[in-house]
Amino acid sequence: MYVRLLGTAAGGGYPQWNCCCTQCGHARSGRQAPRLHSSLAFSGDGKDWYLINATPDVRQQIESCPELHPGPNLRSSPIKGVFLTDAELDHTAGLLLLREGTAIDIYATAPVLAALDTEFPLRKILSSYTACSWNVLLPREAIHLDGDSVSIKPVSISTKMPRYVKLPHPASNAVVAFEIQDLRTGRSIMFAPALESVRQDLIEAFDRSDLLFFDGTLWTDNELQNLGVSNRSAAEMGHLPLFVDGKLNDVCRSGARRKILIHVNNTNPVMDDKSFQRELLAAAGVEVVHDGAFIEV
Ligand code: MLT
Ligand code: MN
Ligand code: ZN
Repeated sequence: MYVRLLGTAAGGGYPQWNCCCTQCGHARSGRQAPRLHSSLAFSGDGKDWYLINATPDVRQQIESCPELHPGPNLRSSPIKGVFLTDAELDHTAGLLLLREGTAIDIYATAPVLAALDTEFPLRKILSSYTACSWNVLLPREAIHLDGDSVSIKPVSISTKMPRYVKLPHPASNAVVAFEIQDLRTGRSIMFAPALESVRQDLIEAFDRSDLLFFDGTLWTDNELQNLGVSNRSAAEMGHLPLFVDGKLNDVCRSGARRKILIHVNNTNPVMDDKSFQRELLAAAGVEVVHDGAFIEV
């Protein structure tokens, strides 16, 4: 199977439009590469492609990947569906930008679909533009795609709904990771942009995977508070910091064959490729790769 990493930054992107911190300055001056919002495209057969999450950068992300370009008909697309890990704005707002499509298949768990039906009424809005089909994902139930060449299975991660959702809160299956498997080779990818905690069953699934994309939002729990940009800790945001109790967290030390950070916040010192934090990650085999990376698994 094939994957294209469409973006690696957390909400706000890198640089963030209203931030003039040193790190965002480096992305503006060209010292560090800018990064789009975290998202992945995958394909079992190299012809039909699926997006994981639709970010505010989705138009630019599609344009920068030749395999996602339209054709062969005037208004057809190789993008056959969108899988959502959660209802966060940085993962769903891009659906509005896909409204020109003739049809969009969207897959998400029940609480995510409920949020997109009520507080963020994408479903109602999009219905006037295109024929969306909204498919409910059940935890641990795999869906087969691309003529049974690949399957995708949601794994429950947390009960945290976005801030804009008032009730119900928490909700089971609010956030999932995806396990994508090539059904011919048995190889698998895990995609987990939000990890609330280290659970034993998750660690085991990560250890078995050939390629693990995981939550690199924040380096420390109080990173945003220390910078004075938010009063919320990583834990309160539903993100496990990379550095806990003086060492890398257990996910960084997973036995997955390859490990790549995604959903990295612009405040995270690992954005700087010369930082000691980046060196620590490299020593544990964790990569921070550029947007647009194409990987055959
Ligand atoms: C998150 O990842 O926790 C959210 O996307 C943060 C946000 O944009 O509000
Ligand atoms: Mn986010
Ligand atoms: Zn910044």
